[in-house]
Amino acid sequence: MREAPIHTEESFRLLVEAIDDYAIFMLDASGNVVNWNTGARKMKGYEVDEIIGRHFSVFYTPEDVAAGQPGLLLAAAVAQGRVVSEGWRVRKDGSKFWANVVITTVRTPTGELRGFAKVTQDLTERKRLEEFEQLRALAAHIQAAREEEQIRIARELHDDIGQQLTALKMALAGLDSIVRDQEAGAARTAPHIADMHQLIDATVASLRRIAAGLRPVMLETLGLIPTLEWLIDDFMQRYDIAVEARIEADDMKLSEAADEGLFHIVQEALTNVARHAHADRVTIDLARDGRTCVLRVTDDGQGMTPAAPSRPTSFGLLGMRERVHHLNGTMSIDSAPGRGFRLTLIFPLDAVERKPSSPEGAA
Ligand SMILES: Nc1ncnc2c1ncn2[C@@H]1O[C@H](COP(=O)(O)OP(=O)(O)OP(=O)(O)O)[C@@H](O)[C@H]1O
Ligand SMILES: [Mg+2]
Repeated sequence: MREAPIHTEESFRLLVEAIDDYAIFMLDASGNVVNWNTGARKMKGYEVDEIIGRHFSVFYTPEDVAAGQPGLLLAAAVAQGRVVSEGWRVRKDGSKFWANVVITTVRTPTGELRGFAKVTQDLTERKRLEEFEQLRALAAHIQAAREEEQIRIARELHDDIGQQLTALKMALAGLDSIVRDQEAGAARTAPHIADMHQLIDATVASLRRIAAGLRPVMLETLGLIPTLEWLIDDFMQRYDIAVEARIEADDMKLSEAADEGLFHIVQEALTNVARHAHADRVTIDLARDGRTCVLRVTDDGQGMTPAAPSRPTSFGLLGMRERVHHLNGTMSIDSAPGRGFRLTLIFPLDAVERKPSSPEGAA
């Protein structure tokens, strides 16, 4: 039988040698490299004659060598027949790659240890991708934690410190009125008390400024309704004006731009009530009406004379018109002296909803 069979030891050796995306080689019983395939050369950078006879610990980082890792792996392979490990390994040029390594014991038919078969796969790219994904997840987590933290700070500023300052101001007013009754003391204490009032007012103003800076985060994270509720609550405490809010926006999915626009419009409308209306009561209605979204802010204050020339420094209503215009809406004002003030804003749903609906159904 002179015909060369395909499965000879020689052809098997050629096969292993030719594989170039796995490093496949053998170690003798004490861990020295016995043979070397193309994949090993490519992955680790050593030529055959440079590596044969050297101990396989050259593939490990100095830290792993110091920790006795190579020896431990061989011992584990001897004990279990096979050991799998993943970790950073070192190329000839010192660069590192992430390796998945399988070490299997090779024994004689009588069970005597001849050495180890070692198959290594370079998983650096997969590892980098994993690390990248982890970093991304971490960044997202940090961002979310940061936003949560900002909302917490905003709430505490508002609910806690804000209320305490209000109480302090009331106590001070009480003290002020007592001292005023005692003429002699009044002259001396009045300036101090006035200073204190001013200081508290400045503190409240700073507090509001800081909290307002955190508000866009609230709007983005919690959405329009909770942010409006917060604004309204703040307004009621600050000016002692009752606000009835009928906000039925649940059935509308508003876009970020609409959330922001509506928030600022309500904010300006409330500021105007506080500054110009002398009102006892404000009603805010926000609801869907057919294919439109309607916002109404009504107060029972002194109203405005339509002919009253607007001050050159009045930008509130102008800014509001600008925002309404951006959202394709219309704005109207109903007011007469002594008859309150009503702002009505109507937006096409298409312009304020999150997903612009297709115009097919529109007549
Ligand atoms: N709720 C209201 N009740 C009575 N008058 C109002 C009310 N809202 C607005 N006005 C009148 O309309 C005018 C214009 O308001 P607008 O918000 O544009 O300016 P402003 O509040 O005077 O100044 P700013 O630019 O700071 O907002 C006000 O000066 C006020 O006379
Ligand atoms: Mg204004």
